[in-house]
Amino acid sequence: MRVLGINAIFHDPAAALVVDGRVVAAAEEERFSRRKHGKRPVPFSAWELPELSAAWCLASAGIDVDGLDAVAYSFDPGLCRDADELGLSDPWDWLRVDYARRAPQFLAAALPGLDPEKVRFVPHHVAHAASAGLAAPPAGDDTAVLVLDGRGEVASHLAGVYRDGRLSPLHSQQLPHSLGLLYEDLTRHLGFLHSSDEYKVMALASYGRPKHLGMLRELVRVTDGGFQVERIDWTSMAKAVAAGGELAEEHADLASSVQARLEEVVLDLSRWLYDASGGAPTLAVAGGVALNCVANARLAAEGPYRDVWVQPAAGDAGTALGAALHVAGELGDRSVPMAGADLGRGWSDEELEAELRRAALPYTRPASIAAEAARVLADNGIVAWYQGRSEYGPRALGHRSLLAHPGDPDTTRRMNDVKGREQFRPIAPMVRAERFAELFDGVYPSPYMLFVHRVRPEWRDRIPAVTHVDGTARVQTVHPETEPVVAELLAEFERRTGLPVVVNTSLNTAGRPMVDTPREAMELFGSAPVDLLALGPFAVHRRALGGAR
Ligand SMILES: [Fe+2]
Repeated sequence: MRVLGINAIFHDPAAALVVDGRVVAAAEEERFSRRKHGKRPVPFSAWELPELSAAWCLASAGIDVDGLDAVAYSFDPGLCRDADELGLSDPWDWLRVDYARRAPQFLAAALPGLDPEKVRFVPHHVAHAASAGLAAPPAGDDTAVLVLDGRGEVASHLAGVYRDGRLSPLHSQQLPHSLGLLYEDLTRHLGFLHSSDEYKVMALASYGRPKHLGMLRELVRVTDGGFQVERIDWTSMAKAVAAGGELAEEHADLASSVQARLEEVVLDLSRWLYDASGGAPTLAVAGGVALNCVANARLAAEGPYRDVWVQPAAGDAGTALGAALHVAGELGDRSVPMAGADLGRGWSDEELEAELRRAALPYTRPASIAAEAARVLADNGIVAWYQGRSEYGPRALGHRSLLAHPGDPDTTRRMNDVKGREQFRPIAPMVRAERFAELFDGVYPSPYMLFVHRVRPEWRDRIPAVTHVDGTARVQTVHPETEPVVAELLAEFERRTGLPVVVNTSLNTAGRPMVDTPREAMELFGSAPVDLLALGPFAVHRRALGGAR
């Protein structure tokens, strides 16, 4: 079966193509439209579809619209109720629902030739659940699944279990109670962009103390399998911050308090699910809250599960994949676990070389691009690393990455400057899988960078650039069998420096989506103090352009 998955309803529009149960392409619309998060998270934009990414998914697989068996849309307007009835203050919610009802017609206009009858609505949290439970590596047993989200049609959370590819829901928390909306509210109060900058709040939390945890335990209570969130007067704990305004200790303390309460609630929900599922050994997690890698790490360390797997596109973008997997299952296909997050666009070596020629850039083809990059990194240079297909989800995982030396304490400032980011934001390490345990404690393997780890004390001074203020790091483990070129780069860097770690952050500048095309990589290279552009097997050195280094 050929099923195209579409996420369009709230934010992070994306498309995914599943053929015979296997995902063959998945991409977020922002990588094509170059608009961060694809669109504004407001009801007025609910009609906007991931037209470019959907068309690319089909073209990349050589499938035309006629060849599709179904289109899976990750929201079911048939489940919706009045916003007032749900306790939401969203006067335009009805418009969102109305747009969703007309999605089959909108899709038929966006994908000419599509029969609107082929569009199937998938409940939002079933789509999130499938993106975790059906895409996770095979557990051989039941897989418990926890969706922790802002909102779907009428709920904010779903707990269930996958048995033999079928989801049995066990509990869902009805709106307006929502851990995701709670965190979004706090994000807004701290002057950040909600549905976008929640990870900044998580980073800020590590600078504060959970002074308000007692009060928050009263305001955010766990019930039997769910939770209740009272209306919270944020200003009683810290004054509101204007957009881009100055943050003080009180704001870090508030962030720390909410983060701590979130972690406690997530742990409680996971324990309830473990019992209700009859002790499923594996937990798969998705939903926007599942991008909170500090909470994920606690869940893995203190929760009852043997393994915890988090969908790399845990936010709404991942529902495109989940919806498609769910419908493929309904049509009789067995899901094949996803092998990696590199599901987006890629270019052949010939195409990359043609782009370099067109740009008239002086380039070489070294014997090993990994060794070439490692040499520049060892010399404390910054490398724009562009290899293979782009990542699905918000993390750069060695395909569209900006790399640097982890041993120089000044690297964080330089990288945040290159990217125009706040200085309190940590930067993350990638490490060769076989060296992980020597340097870090915590979840292993961690190929998708969705957990924080403790840096072993003896290593903190050796890799200061990636050691956050609280002694943690958000590690990506690199496995030679799945990421041979990155593994080679790390091995070569270690040979030169004795450090098996490289700084890895996303290849973009502030406010822009990650680089997707070779041309965007060259544009970034030309506009930021980057020493080497490693474009596939080709090297472009800044010094060859007459630059400073
Ligand atoms: Fe969602």
